[in-house]
Amino acid sequence: MIEVRGLTKRYGDVLAVDGLTFDVEPGKVTGFLGPNGAGKSTTMRMMLGLDRPTSGAVLVNGRPFATFAEPLREVGALLDPGAVHPGRTGRNHLRVAARTNGVPERRVEEVIAQVGLGGAAGRRIKGYSLGMRQRLGIAAALLANPRVLLFDEPINGLDLDGVRWIRDLLRQLADEGRTVLVSSHLMGEVQQIADRLVVIGRGRLIADATTEEILDGVGHRQVRVRSPRPGLLLGRLREHGLSVQRVDAHELHIEGGTAEDIGDLAHSLGIPLHHLSEVRQSLEDAYLELTSGSVEYHGRQAERVATTTEGAR
Ligand SMILES: Nc1ncnc2c1ncn2[C@@H]1O[C@H](COP(=O)(O)OP(=O)(O)OP(=O)(O)O)[C@@H](O)[C@H]1O
Ligand SMILES: [Mg+2]
Repeated sequence: MIEVRGLTKRYGDVLAVDGLTFDVEPGKVTGFLGPNGAGKSTTMRMMLGLDRPTSGAVLVNGRPFATFAEPLREVGALLDPGAVHPGRTGRNHLRVAARTNGVPERRVEEVIAQVGLGGAAGRRIKGYSLGMRQRLGIAAALLANPRVLLFDEPINGLDLDGVRWIRDLLRQLADEGRTVLVSSHLMGEVQQIADRLVVIGRGRLIADATTEEILDGVGHRQVRVRSPRPGLLLGRLREHGLSVQRVDAHELHIEGGTAEDIGDLAHSLGIPLHHLSEVRQSLEDAYLELTSGSVEYHGRQAERVATTTEGAR
């Protein structure tokens, strides 16, 4: 369990995290979503005591992280997969981590097997692909068998197999009763993995709910019908307070009602329908709608790309 209470972090003029309050519950995968610069990594660093809050607090299993005598047994984290000694082998990296944290050496081989690092464990980390580094970082997080796991953008750079593997692993960890928080700036990645979503933008909480609730809350339901007598139907639907748009000679798009409502109404009026369907806004659209206005570099992308290209010359 992680309890975030009024958490705030200021770096000079930048308010990176702005009064966040939410819980991350055990037995579930919680997706931590927000556009680039939203404050996800900063929040996770404060959960791990790597950064001090300007105000507010985080409790991990009921206590501040800093008060644990053996913190790695409480929380495992994948923050920056690049932060490893490149000259070591993956296995040695894990052995050092095990030794310094009082973890029995046999765990090293267990986690190597668990993350599928296999033969690569004997090679130097500098020769690792991004996917191998991610797996090694996850192995390190799992080493002390912690009840709480934080993964910051674990899917970045993984191929389809890797993504599927992470998804299964996170599910398994949550099913074992662990608290699992996984951040991403990509909705599509998290939507299939997470039971709950905490969405932030510009350091502030935008949504904290189940994936399904988020869809229902912001997602528009649109009903599409085709009829040989669309004009008559359009008039009647508007009389019933529905918002109707005529798309072409036969097709209407309706908001404010369900397919059942509209099918029943057409039937009661004797208006034939040749097509009736309900279209839901995708979670991706819902996310964009939630975070629009909170994207830090909104509309300045072209300018940034131009600057980067200049700099590269
Ligand atoms: N050490 C730091 N010093 C100054 N500003 C910082 C520092 N760390 C983060 N920031 C700023 O805080 C804000 C939030 O950054 P953070 O890295 O937490 O975002 P994020 O949600 O993890 O983004 P991304 O998806 O790009 O990883 C940004 O404006 C960032 O520039
Ligand atoms: Mg980040």
